This record gives sequence, structure tokens and C-alpha cells, in this order.
Amino acid sequence: MGKKLKAAILGFGGMGHVHAAAYAGQKDVELVACCDIDPAQFERKNVELNFGSSGNSDAKVLKKYLCYEDMVREEAGNLDFVDIALPSDLHCEYAIRAMEDGFNVLCEKPMALTSRDAKKMIAASKRTGKLLMIAQCLRFNETFLAVKKVCDSGKYGKLLRLCAHRVSKQPGGWFRDVARSGGALMDLHLHDIDFIQFMLGVPDELVCFGVPVSSGGIDDSVTTYIYRNGPVVTAEGSWARCGWSCGMTVIFEKATLEMKGDDLFLYDHKTGKTGPLKYRKPKHNHYFNEIAAFAAGVKKGVTPPSATPESTCESIRLIETELKSALAGGKRVKL
Ligand SMILES: NC(=O)c1ccc[n+]([C@@H]2O[C@H](COP(=O)([O-])OP(=O)(O)OC[C@H]3O[C@@H](n4cnc5c(N)ncnc54)[C@H](O)[C@@H]3O)[C@@H](O)[C@H]2O)c1
Repeated sequence: MGKKLKAAILGFGGMGHVHAAAYAGQKDVELVACCDIDPAQFERKNVELNFGSSGNSDAKVLKKYLCYEDMVREEAGNLDFVDIALPSDLHCEYAIRAMEDGFNVLCEKPMALTSRDAKKMIAASKRTGKLLMIAQCLRFNETFLAVKKVCDSGKYGKLLRLCAHRVSKQPGGWFRDVARSGGALMDLHLHDIDFIQFMLGVPDELVCFGVPVSSGGIDDSVTTYIYRNGPVVTAEGSWARCGWSCGMTVIFEKATLEMKGDDLFLYDHKTGKTGPLKYRKPKHNHYFNEIAAFAAGVKKGVTPPSATPESTCESIRLIETELKSALAGGKRVKL
């Protein structure tokens, strides 16, 4: 098994706490430090996010820093990676700084607010030789991966249509400023297009209709992705709903697969029967899995192939294209 790697969380708010809880039980890495400009964050055992509780973590056992520079001064040479859970507009700047300061970087999504910045992060990773992985968590979600496995198997015939949705109320604070969060399109809906392109590749064209709600950006949208000779794919994302809901429905020639939470149901078109699809139920949540995958990658010296920075950068480009389409009133745009 070898020595455990050491990691620190930069940005100890909602997702910082989610990540901290997900270090418990990791075999390749231990969390040793956390950094946040707001010391009140260190006192919180758990935090409520739009999708639920962060789970418990205890900052008492961690070294605590109130600014990144102090953490670098103390921890250079000690940390194997920095786990960034800062507001989205800071991802590019701090990911590049951390790589230049000698750390591998696991960074929350969105990779950056523009593909231009995402490319700068890739260039910094190449220049410094440090690994960079973006925590696009659905790529590590065993329920979503089970859907991908069914699609790849071809067992139920050709994939005809896929629809995904991810909706909630709008989070508060900096999320309400499009310049910091990118709005629901970049912040929330990104999860689904990232998984769709991970599963089916980049579409040929897309059409997006969206409306602003309160961030100043597109906070409620529906997009159709056009795959020439492929399935009809739609995804809906919103920060203008009464509560949290997400899921995916996949219609094949012979059956329909529906996701409800961690459960998958199959509807057989011929027999009319519906029943649960058996798959290996998640032992850990996707946050645990993405940290485990990155730690294993750092040990081997390679970014996990299922979440290369080049591929997560493509998702940012897709969101930019959706924005372009929505701002043009639902114009069909080529990728
Ligand atoms: N993968 C997911 O499911 C998921 C869910 C929610 C949020 N996110 C992403 O996680 C990131 C963080 O979101 P959040 O909900 O935790 O936000 P948050 O506001 O709760 O936490 C951000 C923290 O960063 C701290 N911070 C700000 N500037 C700092 C600096 N210069 N140095 C150190 N600390 C600083 C803030 O004080 C705050 O505690 C965002 O990019 C968001 O899109 C991902």
C-alpha cells in the first residue's frame, strides 16, 4: 500500500466540508490541512448545500491556515496535492499558483469560467509537470457509470433518446453573481453536459433556450444536443425550482432505463414489465471516489484517464456554446 499521500483543502466552505468528509477511509491519502479566509468555517462540523448535507468532518485535527501564502510557506514539500474548493472565479488563478508552487491539484468544477482560462490551466500543468484533475463528480458516480455501461453494452439495442435534468433553488452569496459563478448554466447544468460528452462524445450541434433568473446569467435552460445519426439528447438545468431534483432517462430500442436517486429501473418495451436494474450499489459517494482516483493517479504519476483536463475543458467549451445559442434566442450552433 505504501505511504499515504498528504492533501490540503483550499476553500473550506460547503464543498470544502463535503470533500473533508470524503477523506475519511481513503487508503491512499490523508487530509492534513485546510485553508479558508473565514475562520468561522473551521468551527462548522457540517454544512447544508442545495443537494443536502456535507456530512461530518472535524477541522480540529487539521492544520488551519487563513491564507494560501501561509499554507505554502509551511507546507511546501509536505503536501502531495491541494484540493481546491474555492468560488468558481478563483479556480484558474489558484490552480495555476498551486501547480507553480509544486503541488498537484484536484480542483472543483467548473474547471474555469472560460475555456481560455481552462486552457491556461492545462498549459500550467504541462509546464510544471504537476497533475491536474477537475472534480467532475458524475464521472465517478457509480449509478451514472452503470447507465453508461448499459449504453456501451448495446444490450437493449440502439440508444434513441436521452434526457437529463438537474434543478434546485438558487444558492446564495457569490453564486448569485454571474461573474463569479457563471450562473446555473455553468455551475449546475455543467454536470449533465459533462457526463453526456463523457458518455457519448461531443455533439455535432446544439440548441439552447435559456432565461435569466437572478444571477444575471442563464439560470434556467433546456438544451438539445444533435448527434448526426445518433440519439436525440436533451438536458434541463435550473436554479429556479422549488427544490432539488436530478435524474436521467435513457430510451433504447428495446427498453427504457430510468434513474431515481441511486436506483435504476428498466421498462421492457416488449413485455411491458418494469423492474429494478441490478448493478453494484455505491459503497462510497462520488466525492470519495474522485479523491480516491486522483490520489491513486498521483501515486502512479498519471491523471486518471476518465477525467483528463483536456476532456473537462471540452465541457466548458460546450457551456460557452450553449450560452451563445441561448443569447441568440435558441440559435442552432455547430461545435
Ligand atoms: N461537485 C459538486 O457537486 C459541487 C456542489 C457545490 C459546489 N461545487 C463547487 O465548489 C466550489 C465551492 O462552492 P461552495 O458551495 O463550497 O462555496 P462556499 O462559498 O460555501 O465556499 C467557498 C469557500 O472559499 C473561501 N474562500 C474564498 N476566497 C478564498 C481565498 N482566496 N482563500 C481561501 N479561501 C477562500 C470562502 O471563505 C468559503 O468558505 C464552487 O466552484 C462550486 O461550483 C461543486
